[in-house]
Amino acid sequence: MISSDEAVRLDQSDPLRNYRREFLLAEGTCYLDGNSLGPVSSRVAEGLQEVVSQQWQPDLIASWNKHGWIDLPLRIGDQLARILGAGPGQIVCCDSTSINLFKAIAAALSLSQGRKKVLTTADNFPTDRYMVEGLSKLMAGRCELVSCDEANILTSLNDEIAVLVLTQVNFRTGRLLDMKAITQAAHDLGIVVVWDLAHSAGIVPIALDDCNVDFAVGCSYKFLNGGPGAPAFIYAAKRHLGSLEQPLSGWLGHRNPFDFSPDYEAHEGIAQFLCGTQAVISMSAVEAALTLYDEVSVEQLREKSLALMAFFLNKLAQHSETSALHLVGPKNLAQRGSQLAFEHEHAYGLCQALIKRGVVGDFRAPNILRFGFSPLYLSFQDMDFAVDQIVQSLAAGEAIQSGNNQRSLVT
Ligand SMILES: Cc1ncc(COP(=O)(O)O)c(C=O)c1O
Repeated sequence: MISSDEAVRLDQSDPLRNYRREFLLAEGTCYLDGNSLGPVSSRVAEGLQEVVSQQWQPDLIASWNKHGWIDLPLRIGDQLARILGAGPGQIVCCDSTSINLFKAIAAALSLSQGRKKVLTTADNFPTDRYMVEGLSKLMAGRCELVSCDEANILTSLNDEIAVLVLTQVNFRTGRLLDMKAITQAAHDLGIVVVWDLAHSAGIVPIALDDCNVDFAVGCSYKFLNGGPGAPAFIYAAKRHLGSLEQPLSGWLGHRNPFDFSPDYEAHEGIAQFLCGTQAVISMSAVEAALTLYDEVSVEQLREKSLALMAFFLNKLAQHSETSALHLVGPKNLAQRGSQLAFEHEHAYGLCQALIKRGVVGDFRAPNILRFGFSPLYLSFQDMDFAVDQIVQSLAAGEAIQSGNNQRSLVT
């Protein structure tokens, strides 16, 4: 039997307990949606203030050189490289994950010598699939989307496949795929692999170089807390930089953008994935957010994330009221990212009822209630509180009460 005293004890010995103060979350809010949009921290708020009032305002256009705005995409890329287990010069921060998927998949196809099939999972995040569909239309006959179940990835690989596109942590089920084993199996058949790290960057230990990954993309607004719509990133292994081609040949991916040459010549490094001018203010938020990783390791975060989820599940199991919630995806937490997903007949209504009680998760169609666990600002006492609220809400039948089922556009 887990007691509230146990939560207090665990919090007292938590080495990350002081980071909660940095995050500007309202008192009484247990924020379990950092896997969708991370909250603002004081270091980000102050970083933004500085960019606006001490850079943009006084120095205007001179800021591109004076404050290194032009280098932000590569500078943040190298910050991310340290978090994602990559050497420098292989990651650039830019654009959205969707756009970077387009570039990465096209670049992977450009290395694939005549093969055209792009394999992904049937329940991958829609944008990963949609981007392949878009490329298929554009590349008429040189790109074809094929699908498999997540459980059958390894047995679906064959030497007709050009590119494998996978999301390391499934956005619905939370399942964590084995990056090293899958990449190796794909390479044995000559397949180029693109990993989407949207739900794993900054929360699951990743070793891109060690796993021999070809390409990777991901968001910075989830566990990395870079802010709403913050720029994404793209990784390309150094060994591919001289031979790949990516189709969005914007001027900032040129070898010498300020020569203003009429003809495109790709940059020799990772900067060839840059397209146009980047959102400096959003980039500055990401740069400030990532300084946290100079103090805290992803391994530390993973250890606490697993402990938080274990506490949450154990406490949930103590209450018969929660029998209507069915955990989706692996029961073994080592095979999950930092997210628990539950099927419930009235998942949307339950999600809304819980938000009113201060427990913020989200809903994913058709019937999933999702909770993300970010160890930087969540405590074991938050877990205790969240489970109490879930139990009380279920006992009171709030999921089907009127007012809780009015769907908003964003769920
Ligand atoms: C796995 C995955 N890939 C890509 C995206 C979308 O990225 P963006 O909207 O930044 O293009 C998301 C968004 O939640 C996601 O979960």
